[in-house]
Amino acid sequence: MRTVGIVATLVLAAIACTPTPPGSTPAPSGGGAAVAAAPAAPAQAGPGGPGGPGGPPRRREPPNPMRQDTLRRAMVDSLLHTIAGRENEAAGSVFKNVTLNKAMPAGEFLRMMDTQYGRGLGWTCNNCHVVTNFSDDSRKNKRIAKQMQEMQDHLNLVRLTSIKELDAEYDKVSCVMCHHGTNEPKNTMAVPQPAGR
Ligand code: HEC
Ligand code: HEC
Repeated sequence: MRTVGIVATLVLAAIACTPTPPGSTPAPSGGGAAVAAAPAAPAQAGPGGPGGPGGPPRRREPPNPMRQDTLRRAMVDSLLHTIAGRENEAAGSVFKNVTLNKAMPAGEFLRMMDTQYGRGLGWTCNNCHVVTNFSDDSRKNKRIAKQMQEMQDHLNLVRLTSIKELDAEYDKVSCVMCHHGTNEPKNTMAVPQPAGR
């Protein structure tokens, strides 16, 4: 409100200083009025609130990795609770719609969702899941993630194993290896700089 007051004062001052004949609309007043009106917009929020119908656009905060970790851990903990006693059974038999990592123990599967699929991409569970029904495949990101997993399995099980002269002990390709905490993996690196600069 204070800003509105200051802007309004400036607009009035601008009008007062502009020698325009009465009746004609001076240009600074038109532009100034639009600026003065802008800060008042949040007060007219529609029924949906920010991002909702008739409301102002949702403000996009940059994701906070610590907060995301906390949210994901809470989700994993609550799911571990629902499968208590079955953590070591295969994910394919504990969950309804696991088609790829079927043999992985269910507890390990949930931790992988957290560290690889979640933190690896800089996302929380609900970037891919309808969190009231984890087996649901309606979100695009979950469908893409399945194809990423298939690509990764192919690299690890087919492509890399066929490179005969490769050392045996190497880290398997993972979401983290490419994504490094972002949904848009970078194709850049720090260029070495000459010493002493
Ligand atoms: C990048 C997308 C993505 C993120 C983020 C993600 N998941 Fe998943 N989730 C998947 C995919 C894909 C599958 C199926 C995997 C498979 O078939 O092996 C899956 C399967 C599951 C399942 C099995 C559901 C069922 O009944 O079939 C659970 C439970 C689950 N995820 C929990 C989580 C939790 C908890 C988080 C957050 C800590 C999370 N996921 C984050 C993509 C994601
Ligand atoms: C070999 C490298 C590589 C690996 C391994 C990999 N990805 Fe990706 N992924 C990419 C590239 C490249 C893109 C396209 C990035 C873009 O859209 O800018 C991508 C995009 C995605 C997207 C879409 C992101 C968006 O914002 O549209 C999802 C979801 C995803 N990957 C999930 C995964 C998951 C889950 C894993 C592990 C199972 C994984 N990826 C492993 C390279 C990889």
